[in-house]
Amino acid sequence: MTAGTGADLRAAAGTGADLGAAAGAADDPGVAPGVGTRPATGFGWSPDELAAVGVGHWRDLYTSADFAAREQMSVFAPRWSLVASVEEIPPGHYLATTVAGVPVALWRGSDGALRAFHNICPHRGILLLQGTGPIGRFVTCPYHQWSFERDGSLARIPQPEQFPDADPSALALHEVAVAEWHGLVLACVSGDAPDLDGQTALLEDRLAHFLHAPLVEVARVDYAVECNWKLLVENHVDVYHLWYLHQRSLAAYRHTSFQWRWEGPTWWSYEPLSDPSGAPAGLAGLSEDERTGIGAHLLFPNLMLVTTGDYLATYDARPDGPTRTRMTLRVRSHPDADADALVASIRSFLAEDVKACEAVQLATASPWYSVGPTARRHEEPVRTFHRILRDDLLARMAGAERQPGPAGGPSR
Ligand code: FES
Ligand SMILES: [Fe+2]
Repeated sequence: MTAGTGADLRAAAGTGADLGAAAGAADDPGVAPGVGTRPATGFGWSPDELAAVGVGHWRDLYTSADFAAREQMSVFAPRWSLVASVEEIPPGHYLATTVAGVPVALWRGSDGALRAFHNICPHRGILLLQGTGPIGRFVTCPYHQWSFERDGSLARIPQPEQFPDADPSALALHEVAVAEWHGLVLACVSGDAPDLDGQTALLEDRLAHFLHAPLVEVARVDYAVECNWKLLVENHVDVYHLWYLHQRSLAAYRHTSFQWRWEGPTWWSYEPLSDPSGAPAGLAGLSEDERTGIGAHLLFPNLMLVTTGDYLATYDARPDGPTRTRMTLRVRSHPDADADALVASIRSFLAEDVKACEAVQLATASPWYSVGPTARRHEEPVRTFHRILRDDLLARMAGAERQPGPAGGPSR
């Protein structure tokens, strides 16, 4: 297993080590001279639509704490989020994390069954669990030692005579929807999880050989990126930058043959190596095209996937406030893969992406920040990503979607 931190991404990209320091530091400087001579918008958003989702300026999409909180509740909470690989929660172990900004704890019983709950004690609301570790016969709160069965039901209250009116059936943990998808664990906190199969159908079809191969996680690396999460996703689906930002790291691929497909909010893409004779031997069971090309894919809103003949990698952009993103790179391959080499090859382009996204974030501090014309074809996926995001938020504002519980949590 290879592990690391975000610092090495900037080092790999060259001079970007100081880029994150000032990101998001500027407060709204007010109206500057010349602002308004160009519409401060982009990717198909109209000024009226920006106003409808509660922002006054285009850059607020990337800098506003209020808007970031709105995204968590309206965009992330109603959807499935990647929380771990299956290897991170072996039988008899738990993992505490956040989903859509909400604390969640997952555990797997010795029978292999995986369950997830809001990580909040129903007594006084402390986090029941933190970090990772083995789970005991009961889950016991550290504060006053209320204990819970693994199915979330209340097992015991110390000094029960102190709680003559307590109804144990009303004091169970709130369950969170959890699903395992080809070695990945996903969760949805809304209480009304959408059909996962519907969201993943395109990838089930196009990535079937990768998803059904006996892959294991060979590397996992956590990064902290100093930019809004959307910049990383925009970059992921941007075809135009491949020739330029990655002129060395992805030079082996024939960008003119780049193809993609959207199915609802899910995106699949592929481009071949210019010289297929340089392709790796590859994972067992791949087609010739799959072995000799690279694909970038998106499970909206934030789960980015990359496939080559050597691996299936995921990196999820989890917002940590408006100007910071947590991202975990997980690489799945065959058990004997050279994990360090795979991470190095992914980092060769990912570090360039991170450096560019952090530099855009710095630009959002300026009242002149805007987005100009975008490429008719090569930036179409960026516009589509924003259309999906915009439609989601506008539907939410119009009350057309069912509201999840507070902050995506239970309504009790
Ligand atoms: S807060 Fe959990 S037992 Fe009191
Ligand atoms: Fe890129």
